[in-house]
Amino acid sequence: MRPEDLSAVVQIEAACFGQPWTKAMFAEELRQEPGWRTVAAEQQGAVLGFLIGRCYADEWHLLDLAVTQARRGEGIGGILLDEFLGSADRAGRSVLLEVRPGNAGALGLYGSRGFTSLALRRGYYPDTGEDALVMIRDPRAGTGGSGDRQGHAGRTAPATVPADVDRAARSFEGLLLAIESSCDDSAAAVLNSRGEVLSSVTHSQDSIHERYGGVVPEVASRAHVERMTAVVSEALRLAECNVDQLAAVAATVGPGLIGALLIGVQTAKAVAWSRRLPFFPVNHIHGHLAAPWLAQSDARFPMVTLVASGGHTLLIRIEDRTTFRLLGQTLDDAAGEAFDKGARLLGLGYPGGRELDELAEKGDPASFPFPIGMRRSPRPDFSFSGVKTALYYLLRGMTAEERARHAADIAASYRQAIVEALVSKTLRAAKQEKVPTVAVAGGVAANSLLRRRLAEAGGHAGMEVLIPPFAYCTDNAAMIGAAALRGPRLDYPDYLAVDASASLALGQWIPAKA
Ligand code: KG4
Ligand code: ZN
Repeated sequence: MRPEDLSAVVQIEAACFGQPWTKAMFAEELRQEPGWRTVAAEQQGAVLGFLIGRCYADEWHLLDLAVTQARRGEGIGGILLDEFLGSADRAGRSVLLEVRPGNAGALGLYGSRGFTSLALRRGYYPDTGEDALVMIRDPRAGTGGSGDRQGHAGRTAPATVPADVDRAARSFEGLLLAIESSCDDSAAAVLNSRGEVLSSVTHSQDSIHERYGGVVPEVASRAHVERMTAVVSEALRLAECNVDQLAAVAATVGPGLIGALLIGVQTAKAVAWSRRLPFFPVNHIHGHLAAPWLAQSDARFPMVTLVASGGHTLLIRIEDRTTFRLLGQTLDDAAGEAFDKGARLLGLGYPGGRELDELAEKGDPASFPFPIGMRRSPRPDFSFSGVKTALYYLLRGMTAEERARHAADIAASYRQAIVEALVSKTLRAAKQEKVPTVAVAGGVAANSLLRRRLAEAGGHAGMEVLIPPFAYCTDNAAMIGAAALRGPRLDYPDYLAVDASASLALGQWIPAKA
């Protein structure tokens, strides 16, 4: 596939898929290594179809395969696929792909080439909410080494983790390296033992996941592998130190995407092991909760904190930086998800929360009525599926011209409904808990209306309101370091048994033994 093929490739893509890749995405894919991109072309040079894959050291991924509509059924897809699979066989690698379960043509083709179903990825396709079928094909016997799929999925029996971790013995003198990789940000930070941040580096994967309309777990893991060493080096460089000057290492061990978490945990454990340093396992939510007092060290406790991100909407009472109690949470979508889905319906950018916020600043929030989820319920819980559905039906009943004309007013009204739910429930919970302080964390804490409204309503109620700077709201490693300083310390070699965990309950620091 050459750059001059891209126009034809984009046309074929657009005719085949509901959520086509753009030309810029293909251009970026051409720069990716180790990549596989081929086109099938007629002698005159017209492109008939194409295949894009990635050839990782342990496994190959088929990312995109399409054939021009007029030439389907001639075996062109099969030729492109067989060339890719033949090479995978020679390299002894398994091939992984995702496909819509309703795409009978594709399923037939993949089935005929030995792909079998591995798993269902729930609600993977954002345009229809359809699940994705994950399929795998092992290399043909006798053609190369073993496709080591079991290798990284398998577990070794862990050694014993001390059950009663001695919190009193956690203190250390010197520098702490903290690592975060639970979702789509690769992050590292260096803090001193007083909790001051010397450096904090975050590498966002938004530009990678944008083309899929959401975070793809395998792609996220790979991107963490590719970047983590550089991110850690950069954090050390900015803190003007090297590995030999570190006194401790911390990492997010859960909750999150398991493949993504593993990269950070293994990196941290490797650094800790190499210098026999202590390791601090951190729960990602405890990290978000630490952001407000990281930004303001003299914060008054207890406090009620709203954690609102793309994956979570939680109201939590914090006693003393180490004791947490869940007061309420969303019953369906997270607040960030509601912003992102709204942005998608309005045709804004990715992930969309920030773009919707910017557009809403120019509109009138009283223009359209949107339901405020759980408004009449006394419980400190949230629901955002109603407001999202209301937006869907509102836009469906409008012409394209009306949608464009009212876009800012719609965005303002939609944002208002989400923020009102967040602010009213947070304030009500804080009053009920009789705390002096209310705080907000997570990516949605960047929302300009939420910041204004919470400051206003909290101030009105006579409470101290903590709103951390944006860099500490979205996923970052500085907050993980701040939480680690309050968490359990594991000494060498006990932490070698600690694994990552996709689900880790609030208050839990160390995943249960496998
Ligand atoms: O905490 P975060 O970086 O990652 C997760 O753990 O999810 O949060 C990202 C979320 C996304 O849904 C994003 O759209 C949203 O935070 N977000 C915003 C704004 N900036 C980021 N939502 C509303 N208004 C914003 N200004
Ligand atoms: Zn997060």
